[in-house]
Amino acid sequence: MSLFRKKNIEHMLKASAQGAGLKKALGALDLTFLGIGAIIGTGIFVLTGTGAVQAGPALMVSFLIAAVACCFAALAYAEFASTFPVAGSIYTYSYATLGEVVAWIIGWDLMLEYGLASSAVSVGWSGYLQSLLSGFGLSLPVELTAAPGAVPGVTTFFNLPAFFVMMAITALLSIGVRESTRINNVMVAIKVTVVLLVIAVGVFHVTPANWHPFMPNGWSGVFGAAAVMFFAFIGFDAVSSAAEEVKVPKRDLPIGIIASLAVCAVLYVAVAAVVTGIVPSAQFANIGHPVSYALQVAGQTWVAGFIDLGAVLGMLTVILVMSYGQTRIIFAMSRDGLLPARLSKVHPRYSTPFLTTWLVGIFFGLIGALVPLKVLAELINIGTLAAFSMVSIAVLILRRTHPHLPRAFRCPGVPVVPILAVASCLFLMLNLALFTWLAFFAWTAIGLLIYFFYSRSRSRLARGTPSH
Ligand code: ALA
Repeated sequence: MSLFRKKNIEHMLKASAQGAGLKKALGALDLTFLGIGAIIGTGIFVLTGTGAVQAGPALMVSFLIAAVACCFAALAYAEFASTFPVAGSIYTYSYATLGEVVAWIIGWDLMLEYGLASSAVSVGWSGYLQSLLSGFGLSLPVELTAAPGAVPGVTTFFNLPAFFVMMAITALLSIGVRESTRINNVMVAIKVTVVLLVIAVGVFHVTPANWHPFMPNGWSGVFGAAAVMFFAFIGFDAVSSAAEEVKVPKRDLPIGIIASLAVCAVLYVAVAAVVTGIVPSAQFANIGHPVSYALQVAGQTWVAGFIDLGAVLGMLTVILVMSYGQTRIIFAMSRDGLLPARLSKVHPRYSTPFLTTWLVGIFFGLIGALVPLKVLAELINIGTLAAFSMVSIAVLILRRTHPHLPRAFRCPGVPVVPILAVASCLFLMLNLALFTWLAFFAWTAIGLLIYFFYSRSRSRLARGTPSH
């Protein structure tokens, strides 16, 4: 039964009320911006093309399906986030409800999600940067533009812009959340402006005939695209990873999570409607910058250039928030003794997990530079969907085991909403490729080996000195 040992919830709440070392600097608006910063990125700017080919104009429906699945999961998240304002996201929550081994698996999945997502977005960023530079007649040596094997028939070694951007973001994060958040807010404003510009300018170039046939590949195309486009919504959960640095977590966390998700859902459906209305969907095959491409086709080249620039700036914030979430999960797992203690050391001057931030930045920077985007994107969704299913189950368990625990935000419609969340996440997972499932099992197996041979005996809970 020691596998399912649990943290004491009352102790966790007490400890978090006293503060545990990280600076408390974030409010509701900061969190909403942190969420939008994490959400709008490679998904809408790059994968929209793939989605349009797969689903046709019904990509709008795919976005809605993914949004509804996220919304159910977000409601469950918000309940947890407002109950346990401690660093580490659903890893920490599951430690108190489902037990240590489940918490470990969830933490391990979240590392896959946040780490690979920052690598994947750095690759998308690199593509848009190169497209922007080519507008000025500038280009890098081709060997340094992509990961080995990323472009069929072209010899490439290393994606230098992707690595460079990861290092720059890591430097920001390592000197403190306040500074990084301020920059994030400016970037989010730019990104949302660019997306609104796409909609406002694009809508006048829509040819409704392009929306027929609406579902060229039937429902299977729509569902397959929903499973891929789910990537575009990943990130709202990063808000809950910041719990320990929030000024009034009980009020601000649920607002931050739900507001950021709702804003993005509306924007995505509108962008999908506009771009598939301008360009016949099949034409998006092999287009790496589908959103600005649609505006080019509409003859709005000046606006298209501006979109390229906005995408380059906007994707920075996604990398920032993903890397941030990653460091905070490792921080929490290390503080619990499941990972080496040095990883949760807080820098005396910057109040950040400095060493962890740099280790994560360099490691996932190299992955972004050396692994093609397609391979990365496949894996991220499955890890995230698995984690979302588990948090929804945890909500149900906690309602039974701790019915009187104070919850600033209560998930409506329990048990129906969490059950719908699990069902919709599983449904999307079933629409992913077999290879993705195999890789996911391999990742889980490695995680379990580390747990049984390292973490289990070093767990602070096992040694009677839990961190909370
Ligand atoms: N949702 C994030 C993106 O679209 C990961 O890039």
